[in-house]
Amino acid sequence: MILKLVKCFALALSLLSINNLNAQTTMKNESSNIRVLVLFNTTGGGTYKLAKAIAEGIEKFPGAKAILKQIPHFKEKTGKEPQLYDSVPYASPSELAEYDGIAFGSPVHFGNMSTDMRYFLDQTIDLWTNHKLEGKPASVFMSAGSGAGREAAILSFWNTLAIHGMILVPTGIKGTGEIDKTIPQGNTAFGTTSLAGMPGSERPSKGELHIANLQGYALAKAAKGYNAVQTTLGNINNNMTTQETPKTDIEARLKELNITLPNAPQPVGNYKLFKISGNQVFINQVALKDGKIEHPGMIGNPVTEEQAKEATRQTLLNILSILKQAAAGDLNNVKQAVQLTGFFYTDEKYTKHAVIMNEASNLLVEIFGESGMHTRATIGAASLPLSSSVEIQAVFELK
Ligand SMILES: Cc1cc2nc3c(=O)[nH]c(=O)nc-3n(C[C@H](O)[C@H](O)[C@H](O)COP(=O)(O)O)c2cc1C
Repeated sequence: MILKLVKCFALALSLLSINNLNAQTTMKNESSNIRVLVLFNTTGGGTYKLAKAIAEGIEKFPGAKAILKQIPHFKEKTGKEPQLYDSVPYASPSELAEYDGIAFGSPVHFGNMSTDMRYFLDQTIDLWTNHKLEGKPASVFMSAGSGAGREAAILSFWNTLAIHGMILVPTGIKGTGEIDKTIPQGNTAFGTTSLAGMPGSERPSKGELHIANLQGYALAKAAKGYNAVQTTLGNINNNMTTQETPKTDIEARLKELNITLPNAPQPVGNYKLFKISGNQVFINQVALKDGKIEHPGMIGNPVTEEQAKEATRQTLLNILSILKQAAAGDLNNVKQAVQLTGFFYTDEKYTKHAVIMNEASNLLVEIFGESGMHTRATIGAASLPLSSSVEIQAVFELK
């Protein structure tokens, strides 16, 4: 009974300290700019204690946030009572790509990582294929019993992490130098370990927790570097994308295509040749050429499709001539074509409007490239002004 009470008290205390840790984590989040995952697996809770010490070390580094997560374990599958650390959320293999650094923790099982951890890592094959963890800092901590094979167990992680191309962050000289030598310590130069099997001593020891703190800090420092490089690379890529976008000189392109824009027809009523609203220019034209309609009449009779295409081309050239005026005399000031609406003088049986309209669409893309792409509608009409076989409404966007 007394034992049960003591256990309950210990449980409540631990819960408090978890909540404390979570609260601290949330407070520090606000100014955080790097995120480091502390991913652990545990059966007896020893690795979890080390994980919390690693997380504390991470958060001592300015701007670093530690995210504690565990991997699903067999205990859960056996349906036994969940333990205290089961309140820590589970990680999914794919989310490893999201962090700036990862600390991996597991019990030492026969000089190796635990089966659960091995199983989890074996599910990161997609991350490996897509180089998602390449260059990301990683560090390993482990809870051991006697300590037998603990360095080999850390190296069992290193094999996998190296195949992923991760940057390994060891404890180095700190792991062996900065420890309390009055009692046996589990620490190694490869990463923190704990000797949970040592009789008569609280584990992890203060020395082991101290090294775990330093290890977390060192990982956060490396993660900061990784984050900075990723940000710089992102900026370089963005700049390159902007620079690499070829800037077509539209006026030169017109010369290359042997296109001379006609004189813009003048309005013959109470309306304007073009209207600018916001950044957009609105223009409507028919197939006027030198003051006369080119190939007037209904498409099919007497206007042939070839003639209708010529009229459509002329109509678009009229539009471009007006667009140039709207763009302060330089078509390079046009950002993009937005929409064309083509009206064609046809009878009710005619259906090939799109074939004729292609003449205008193709010409626009030929001149402006990708920014000449537009949305489009084509409509048949019983008659059009001055018996023009075509009329086009156009919308463009200016820079
Ligand atoms: C299957 C198994 C194998 C183990 N092998 C080792 C070992 O090779 N070396 C060692 O020091 N401890 C070994 N241990 C002890 C655990 O590493 C130790 O209890 C550890 O603290 C458990 O971590 P946890 O509390 O996070 O579950 C083993 C335990 C189990 C269950």
